[in-house]
Amino acid sequence: MPQSGLWSSSEMAEHWQQDVERRRQDFAEATQRMLESAGLGPGDHVLDIAAGTGDQSILAARRVGPGGSILATDISADMLGIAARVAQQEGLTTITTRVMDAQQLDLEDNAFDAVICRLALIFERELTEAGFDEVITRALPFESHYASLDAFLQSTASRLTAGVMGQLRKPEQQHLLGEVRQALSQFEGSHGLVAPAELLLGVGSKEMRLC
Ligand SMILES: C[S@@+](CC[C@H](N)C(=O)[O-])C[C@H]1O[C@@H](n2cnc3c(N)ncnc32)[C@H](O)[C@@H]1O
Repeated sequence: MPQSGLWSSSEMAEHWQQDVERRRQDFAEATQRMLESAGLGPGDHVLDIAAGTGDQSILAARRVGPGGSILATDISADMLGIAARVAQQEGLTTITTRVMDAQQLDLEDNAFDAVICRLALIFERELTEAGFDEVITRALPFESHYASLDAFLQSTASRLTAGVMGQLRKPEQQHLLGEVRQALSQFEGSHGLVAPAELLLGVGSKEMRLC
């Protein structure tokens, strides 16, 4: 994924983790649909590609139970360090982490019953290369909630954009930021910023289950 460099810092990983509660709420329904579509059940062994700090890995681990396992992979060791720490805090010994580029998967054959990928690398090729013929990728609608437009502009999502914007000259950056503010202001109200968005999901399973 071309944006991998944007993620590889401990600061970005900490920042991403600070946003975990908002993700849990905003992404709850879509994440459940992803886990259902992957057909996860007790005892399943699951590969999570670009797992980040692992909030969906934890939900997957609860679903597969003590007889199953989750291998959370990501290109960023910092993101996975947090995922491992949180899994330990939650007492989930079935989650392991491994630094791995999704575009150069290095896995044993037939080790997994399903693969999941939330909000990251929606590349059907990578999921198929992980050994799954039945691959679905979807963009599911959800509402993105922030305390305010300013809070959004301080958020991780915005920091990522800043990485791209940093390549522009200052006047162009200011102009673009003004356009972003103007476009998003329509979604700001007494409940803060509530903006329509799409969550990119990918699943691969050995039996196709469309949800
Ligand atoms: C938007 S975050 C999503 C994290 C997690 N799936 C979630 O839903 O919270 C994108 C993740 O993709 C990872 N990533 C970027 N490029 C990657 C690559 N080439 N291979 C594996 N992971 C990558 C980043 O390090 C980051 O953790």
